[in-house]
Amino acid sequence: MNAMTKIASTGTDNAETEVRFPAEKILVSATDQRGVITFASESFCEIAGFGQEELMGAPHKIVRHPDMPKGIFYLVWETLKAGLPLCAYVKNRTKNGDYYWVLAVMTHTENGYLSSRIKPETELFEKTKKLYAELLREEANGLTPEQSANRFKAMLQEEGFANLDAYTSYALNAEFKNRDRMSADLVNSFATMDELETLISDMQGLVNNIEQGFERVRGEPVNLRILAGRLEGAGAALGTISQNYDAMAKEMHGLVGRLHDPETGALQQMHSAVLQGRTTLQSSQLFSEACEAVQKQENCIDDDVRMLQEHREKLQNKSRARLIEISSIGKSIPDICRSLRRRINGLDVVKLLCKVESGRMRDVDSGLDGIIARLENFHDNTDRCLAELSGKASQVTQKGASI
Ligand SMILES: Cc1cc2nc3c(=O)[nH]c(=O)nc-3n(C[C@H](O)[C@H](O)[C@H](O)COP(=O)(O)O)c2cc1C
Repeated sequence: MNAMTKIASTGTDNAETEVRFPAEKILVSATDQRGVITFASESFCEIAGFGQEELMGAPHKIVRHPDMPKGIFYLVWETLKAGLPLCAYVKNRTKNGDYYWVLAVMTHTENGYLSSRIKPETELFEKTKKLYAELLREEANGLTPEQSANRFKAMLQEEGFANLDAYTSYALNAEFKNRDRMSADLVNSFATMDELETLISDMQGLVNNIEQGFERVRGEPVNLRILAGRLEGAGAALGTISQNYDAMAKEMHGLVGRLHDPETGALQQMHSAVLQGRTTLQSSQLFSEACEAVQKQENCIDDDVRMLQEHREKLQNKSRARLIEISSIGKSIPDICRSLRRRINGLDVVKLLCKVESGRMRDVDSGLDGIIARLENFHDNTDRCLAELSGKASQVTQKGASI
């Protein structure tokens, strides 16, 4: 049987039945460094259809479903081995050959790895199933697991996600909110994180607006130079003015880059910190719920509870650290804004010189007035955006520190 036939035979029309489970259930397992199961919660055993004794000591692929692309597990291991957490939609096989879907949140522990799984229900889940089906077809045509992993990342970019991290935090956030079981003591923290995300994206909008302003006036120094050439002696001063303007605007543009450089920009760093902070806090709530459920089990083992509790605390601390980071990055932004606003004043001086020249050339229809009006517009808009940006950065600093 070739792989294409296999896809058809494992499609929705086959004899396998989907096992559905209620949203409050969290299926937890832990493994050692090699992926051998060292702990399986009662709910995981129940849905998977295995007895605890059958899972303990078994490799985790015991629940592997053939519909899962190899590239996804390649990504799982690559990320976990790099010491980073991740989420993935996973289709698992039950002992009797049925299947169930989960969104798995996986992280590393001192001795191995932990996974807590919730029921997925969002549009992104439906979209992801289609991507997996395509990935599986491409694997059948010869993609290696590594190539398949890279293909998946490329697919995510085509879907508008900047990277795997952005996709996984979006997935967990969407499923978590859809599940609608936020822990009462974390409601305020989650609300603050959402506010921070909105503030950061507003700030990104303001910086984009400033950037577009730079784009629009980029040609003006050249226009001034052309004008200077056309007016010969009468426009000599315009050539110098143009050079000054160009140099000062370029310097300002460089400073703006410190705010939104895709790798090192303050806004980018704050955005990934807020996404990671929220993902970590959401994971910590899931492990906390799992811990409560395990404590109620008849055969509950103290060491398992301790492992889950320690893990939950570690995640909460990590989340808090990310927010402190946001707060401290936020502090640096008003300084950058102040320094940019000072430079706008400098540009204003150059623009004034233009005005003086324009006055001297009253009788010549030079087009200089149009240039001055566009520069004026750019200065006013940039100044307004910088003032707003600075205000929002201060709010970020306060909110980040308040959690
Ligand atoms: C903490 C943890 C949880 C895992 N959970 C699952 C799971 O639920 N289903 C699954 O198929 N693989 C899971 N895996 C991955 C398996 O170890 C394995 O890589 C995967 O089933 C693919 O097996 P294969 O490489 O032999 O094809 C998990 C791994 C870890 C570290």
